[in-house]
Amino acid sequence: MRFDDGASYEQMMGRWSALVGAPFLDWLALPAGLDWVDVGCGNGAFTETLVARQQPASVVGVDPSPAQLDYARQRPGTAGVRWLEGDAMALPVADAGADVALMALVLFFVPEPARAVAEMVRAVRPGGTVAAYHWDLDGGGSPMQALLDAAAAEQQPMAQPSSVWAAAQDASERLWREAGLLDVQSTRFDVQRRFEDFDAWWATALVSPRSKALFATLAPEATARIRERARAALGAGDGELVVRANANAVKGRKA
Ligand SMILES: C[S@@+](CC[C@H](N)C(=O)[O-])C[C@H]1O[C@@H](n2cnc3c(N)ncnc32)[C@H](O)[C@@H]1O
Repeated sequence: MRFDDGASYEQMMGRWSALVGAPFLDWLALPAGLDWVDVGCGNGAFTETLVARQQPASVVGVDPSPAQLDYARQRPGTAGVRWLEGDAMALPVADAGADVALMALVLFFVPEPARAVAEMVRAVRPGGTVAAYHWDLDGGGSPMQALLDAAAAEQQPMAQPSSVWAAAQDASERLWREAGLLDVQSTRFDVQRRFEDFDAWWATALVSPRSKALFATLAPEATARIRERARAALGAGDGELVVRANANAVKGRKA
């Protein structure tokens, strides 16, 4: 699944990520002045929240998508962040060079989540924090759940990220424990986003990499049926629409 448009990502998911990012940072309860690695930083949506709230000493953002990184570099709130192209399973960072390594909405995209967690453990100093948040995809917590359900009901199931299983709270906790992390804790965040109307939500739903792949293959009538199913599932009328989503988060400390 390729993220090749940072501006579309901002509409579709960046704003959602920032809604979870703020309470996630409160939950981590870490001091200012730390060195951070933001793995799968994408277009910098969470990174910007991190810089605004944590007064970090340094931040490295790593993502395999040049388009996402291009958008991230232009964010006014991320001056000083070092952006690196790279993969979560082979981080382009030194051993034990950071205080915190984290993933925001990334773990379920990584083919081998345990390798990515091991890499985050490698990247932090003894006593450092390894953490993540991700939509509760198995529990129906995606901001795009209405679209996923509507497409499935029309026998057009959308492509799933490769490691959906890892996003469940118990699976994430297990990954963190098996990586040797201590004091492992998890929690859940419920968030909501207001849209001017159903069309505004639908516009965001259409630009995800998965949606583009699906709708490119469908006749207009099939797309229209999916749209109406999603509208019904959201209970959308003519006016403002509130869409809910929930994320699981996990954190642990390196010995
Ligand atoms: C949903 S976005 C999250 C972006 C950002 N962290 C945020 O909170 O908005 C998922 C990101 O993970 C990246 N990604 C996908 N596979 C990856 C991998 N194996 N290693 C690192 N990043 C990956 C994608 O390029 C994309 O930018």
